[in-house]
Amino acid sequence: MSDSAATVGAARRIYLDHGATSYPKPPEVIDAVVNAMREHGANPGRGAYRMALSATRLVFEARRSLAELMGAPDARDVFFLSGCTEGCNLMLKGLLSAGDRVVVSSMEHNAVSRPLHALGDAGVEVVVVDADRAGLVNVEAMESAVRAAPTRAVICQHASNVTGAVQPIADLADIAHENGALLLVDGAQGLGHLDVDVSTLDVDAYACSGHKGLLGPQGVGILYLRPGLDARELLQGGTGGGASEEPAQPMGRPERYEAGTPNTPGIAGAGVAARLLLAHGSEWREEEQRLFRRLKEGLLEIEGVTVFGPATDEECVPICSMVSDKLEPDRIAFMLDRTAGVAVRSGLHCAPWAHRTLGTLETGALRFGVGHGNTDADIDVALGALAEILR
Ligand code: ALA
Repeated sequence: MSDSAATVGAARRIYLDHGATSYPKPPEVIDAVVNAMREHGANPGRGAYRMALSATRLVFEARRSLAELMGAPDARDVFFLSGCTEGCNLMLKGLLSAGDRVVVSSMEHNAVSRPLHALGDAGVEVVVVDADRAGLVNVEAMESAVRAAPTRAVICQHASNVTGAVQPIADLADIAHENGALLLVDGAQGLGHLDVDVSTLDVDAYACSGHKGLLGPQGVGILYLRPGLDARELLQGGTGGGASEEPAQPMGRPERYEAGTPNTPGIAGAGVAARLLLAHGSEWREEEQRLFRRLKEGLLEIEGVTVFGPATDEECVPICSMVSDKLEPDRIAFMLDRTAGVAVRSGLHCAPWAHRTLGTLETGALRFGVGHGNTDADIDVALGALAEILR
């Protein structure tokens, strides 16, 4: 790029790393976080004075909003945790025991593969089934792996954080349930970018992130567990409300899974973000999909670029990865930032299994994630800068 373009570009901030976290957050979300700290600063569920009660109400309303957004009939089955990683750990470690066998896709993020590795050391048999080069899970291969031996759980992401592929969750639910297994879903890239209805999808557990497609702050995750599913809690500790001398963790929901003082400001932000998505989600999704198609079509036109992900007319969340035959992904990411102010993530995206599936484990890839707030100009500047760098 010429010096003048670099100078102009450096002043810009074009954020295309929505797969990692969404940015910027809607002003209503930021206001909710600040307002929770300013006006509702007491501990929710702990104390009967008015500010404690208002903090309790705030968490109650946020839980109701998340349950509505996710299609959970009873908000008590929706838990606020520190992130999607904690949700994945809870659903896996809470439900699996030595001697269990699980079938899992080869596209999973470390939030799933690492707890499964630990569970493998503890005597859980982990069967990994390869996805295709677009990152799409093969339903028939998953089904025959499940049928091969008694299986406790099928585990799959809702959408890939590397290729954007949307996985056939409803089909996997049928396969799991017909074979007496559970379906546990890592929805980190689902909520906000897809219509997530845990009842229609018929999942047993769905873990999701508060700070990605939901547009809430970092430090909040949400886990839905099917009513009656007896997952062991990860943590024991204070749960407020019904404090008693009983030494054991209370078994009621949601308190069983929410030991310790919650992240009230983060939960407030997540709750307001859920209400925004309930009101505007489909319109926002349409726009991000339009921009994503523009990006993907542009990437496919650049010589020497290979794009990983479903074809442009197939369903996917607005994420894709690419490699070039001219420069390493890390170098391209560095130059995009320095010359044009374009923020994208290179490397393995905390998903080495996925990169092994795609054949990019050695080099990693360059990932684009489009989201709320992006514009046509963002896409055009990013494509122009990339073409220039790879010229
Ligand atoms: N899981 C996040 C990502 O894909 C951090 O970038």
